[in-house]
Amino acid sequence: MKTLLWLFIVAASSTLMMLFVYPIFSFSKSSKEFFEISVNISNNSTPFLWPSSSYMIGGMDRFEWYRKQMYLKEKIIKLKTTSNISTLSAYEFEHEITVTITSKDRMGFRVYCRYMDESNLEVGEPFKSFTYPEYTVACQKRFGTRKIGLSVERNGEFQSFPLINRMLKKPKYELSICIAPLYGSEPKWLMFIEMIEHYKLQGVQHFYTHIHNASIYDLKVINDYVGTGELEIHYLLERDRRTDDHWQMVHIADCVVWSRFESRWTIFADLDERIYMSNYIGTIRRYVQSVDNERIGSLKFRQQWVLKTEQMPEKYEGEEELTEWMPTHRWHNSTGIGAPGHTSKCIIDTSKVFVMWVHSVSQFFPDGNYIEAGVKPTDGLVRHYRDQSMGNWGDKWLRVVLRFGVLRNTDYPKSLIEKLTENVKRKAEYVYGVVD
Ligand SMILES: *[C@@H]1O[C@H](CO)[C@@H](O)[C@H](O)[C@H]1NC(C)=O
Ligand SMILES: *[C@@H]1O[C@H](CO)[C@@H](O)[C@H](O)[C@H]1NC(C)=O
Ligand SMILES: *[C@@H]1O[C@H](CO)[C@@H](O)[C@H](O)[C@H]1NC(C)=O
Ligand SMILES: *[C@@H]1O[C@H](CO)[C@@H](O)[C@H](O)[C@H]1NC(C)=O
Ligand SMILES: *[C@@H]1O[C@H](CO)[C@@H](O)[C@H](O)[C@H]1NC(C)=O
Repeated sequence: MKTLLWLFIVAASSTLMMLFVYPIFSFSKSSKEFFEISVNISNNSTPFLWPSSSYMIGGMDRFEWYRKQMYLKEKIIKLKTTSNISTLSAYEFEHEITVTITSKDRMGFRVYCRYMDESNLEVGEPFKSFTYPEYTVACQKRFGTRKIGLSVERNGEFQSFPLINRMLKKPKYELSICIAPLYGSEPKWLMFIEMIEHYKLQGVQHFYTHIHNASIYDLKVINDYVGTGELEIHYLLERDRRTDDHWQMVHIADCVVWSRFESRWTIFADLDERIYMSNYIGTIRRYVQSVDNERIGSLKFRQQWVLKTEQMPEKYEGEEELTEWMPTHRWHNSTGIGAPGHTSKCIIDTSKVFVMWVHSVSQFFPDGNYIEAGVKPTDGLVRHYRDQSMGNWGDKWLRVVLRFGVLRNTDYPKSLIEKLTENVKRKAEYVYGVVD
């Protein structure tokens, strides 16, 4: 009976979708390449209010709304079943508990939420849910729950995870960053220190990242930033077989939920990308404070690629090495600026975003008419130290991005490089400048 009613709702709403939404959608999609609304900046920072939070989404029960999206986007009605599921983290919001998973290719699978109380005893009956959007499961809230797990059968095995509190009255941070997962064998310590110190100068207050694999040497400085409370890490354990670059979507899905309601604005960028303000006088934090339109859920920054032609040094060898090897000092040979929408990087309000992709928002929540807005390159840009050999980029993509302009030398902002260098030196010396 319930299923029939559901089918009816889906069929009715998908007819509406075809009539009204698809034409608009395809229009905006094809025109995106050529046109973007620009952000307007005011001199007063507008007082911040969370978008009003409600159990209902788009006028319906939130779990039904999720199910409807799963049908509209993936054509999944009947839930699939699997023999295993791997949990990553669990977050308690006002209206649901959101659990993230690492299992690959598991969209639209049936899972059961399992609730544990403070004595590690199960609370109530398992709640049947499903994996949607990718790497995400929504669970109904249940009184007395301290931990939650997922099982693939109603009474199957599960591992329970403590709930991370996201029932916050106001955001803890105005500006944070989600750094793409760390993996691969290139030494990262110096790239990592420069990235953190750069964003701290831009007013970033908190760093979230995922590690799939890192060397003990790199972990020294990474863990030092964890110790200072500036950085949080979730480890990604492989239980399927995937290539390392397939961790990025897990990272994005988890970080959207992780930062949601904890940070007002969140940057999504890679280790080798430095978003900076160009002619705009002020930090990124000052800039996002001045965005004067509550409908803006995403600010898109255009890219400029700076050719990185060598691997980073393996170990700290003293101050001179740093001025020689810090990416901002070493690499200058740059492409033109990517067209609007071309591999842009975003600063988003994750409370407004339902599904995020690498270069743009895939889907906003429906109540609020949210939009993405482009940041003018004269205000801000992504300076991307793009390794030429990694993924064969130099052969495959350089020619493509050369259509944005001929190669020429550009510099990291002169007003910041001295302070940045000083801060990188201080950190590197502090962590690595001791005799082993
Ligand atoms: C910026 O201001 C212009 C002119 O007032 C307006 O047309 C445009 O929609 C605004 N953009 C945003 C993103 O609010
Ligand atoms: C914002 O403030 C700056 C510096 O105080 C000033 O030059 C500028 O004209 C102001 N802009 C607006 C739109 O009020
Ligand atoms: C986990 O489930 C997936 C998809 O259902 C399956 O392909 C895989 O073999 C399973 N792995 C194990 C270890 O059971
Ligand atoms: C993990 O990282 C270390 C240090 O960079 C490297 O030696 C090792 O090959 C990596 N392992 C995998 C499985 O990528
Ligand atoms: C920039 O890189 C290109 C392509 O590798 C190279 O031909 C050119 O000489 C470089 N320019 C400078 C100023 O180093």
